[in-house]
Amino acid sequence: MWIFGLSGKSGFSARSTAEQVTKGVDGTGLVAIVTGATNGIGLETTRVLALRGVHVIMGVRNVKAGEKVKGEILQKHPGSKIDVMEIDLNSQASIRKFAADFIATGLPLNILINNAGIMAPPFTLSKDNIEQQFAVNHLANECGKEGRIVNVASELHRYGYKEGIRFDKINDKASYNPNSAYGQSKLCNILHCVELTRRLKEEGANVTANSLHPGVIATNIAQNSSLLGCIFGCAQIFLKNVPQVNGVSGEYFMDSNKAKASSMARDPELAKKLWDFSLTFTENK
Ligand SMILES: NC(=O)c1ccc[n+]([C@@H]2O[C@H](COP(=O)([O-])OP(=O)(O)OC[C@H]3O[C@@H](n4cnc5c(N)ncnc54)[C@H](OP(=O)(O)O)[C@@H]3O)[C@@H](O)[C@H]2O)c1
Repeated sequence: MWIFGLSGKSGFSARSTAEQVTKGVDGTGLVAIVTGATNGIGLETTRVLALRGVHVIMGVRNVKAGEKVKGEILQKHPGSKIDVMEIDLNSQASIRKFAADFIATGLPLNILINNAGIMAPPFTLSKDNIEQQFAVNHLANECGKEGRIVNVASELHRYGYKEGIRFDKINDKASYNPNSAYGQSKLCNILHCVELTRRLKEEGANVTANSLHPGVIATNIAQNSSLLGCIFGCAQIFLKNVPQVNGVSGEYFMDSNKAKASSMARDPELAKKLWDFSLTFTENK
């Protein structure tokens, strides 16, 4: 991690803000979807993209909260282009409806930021009866195939279950550990980009898919974890973005610099296995 403000190769560090990283960027004409845009990192990402002229679609489960955030951003940055659309990542049906509604707008999609996430809740099943962190943090991301794709992962991908992804125990309540399941879902975020990159290259698509650790930021996400909540509460609020990533795909970034994910997160065989496994949950649901 680039601590104490030391800059990495990109010239940015853990202390660089989204505004600094995107300074001088003109996003006019681009369209981005940001999931989980009502709070924390998603809200700040939406604000800064809108500030840079990007037309942002806020993918939110609470439309009223989304409209409120939109109003606040418009007050700060009049003239911003922001739309609010409903998506509940806890439900495959809602994800499909969101995709259909977006396609119906006729807008192009240049950037997809899979940001929405939950952390360490007690064992809960999604609306499709899948362990909730695996469903919301990972499976919900499986829909994107157009534009530049960014999965908001986490350094905590290193601290999941020791066997990595528990293919045979995804829904096992008895051995569920909230923090390990969070780490597992974040490992999935990185592996998803590895396999998606392989497939996009195979198709010759001009699309990149990368994952990132956004830094440690005081948001609502640690509300289920008292230990992590304490650490996060002490953290400063900074937001980073990914600069200079034209043509770069399947990579992991931290503090706006390319970083090395865990060996498991770089395993192409595991990435493929996860892809096939995930399809069993998302196809024809
Ligand atoms: N904060 C950090 O230090 C940190 C570090 C590493 C990685 N991350 C990652 O960064 C991402 C954003 O986290 P954050 O810290 O900004 O968290 P946050 O403040 O809790 O925001 C999470 C967002 O996700 C939305 N969301 C949760 N469940 C959803 C669902 N089922 N359907 C649709 N939206 C849903 C929330 O909507 P509501 O407003 O309706 O609740 C909220 O807008 C997550 O993927 C997290 O794993 C965060």
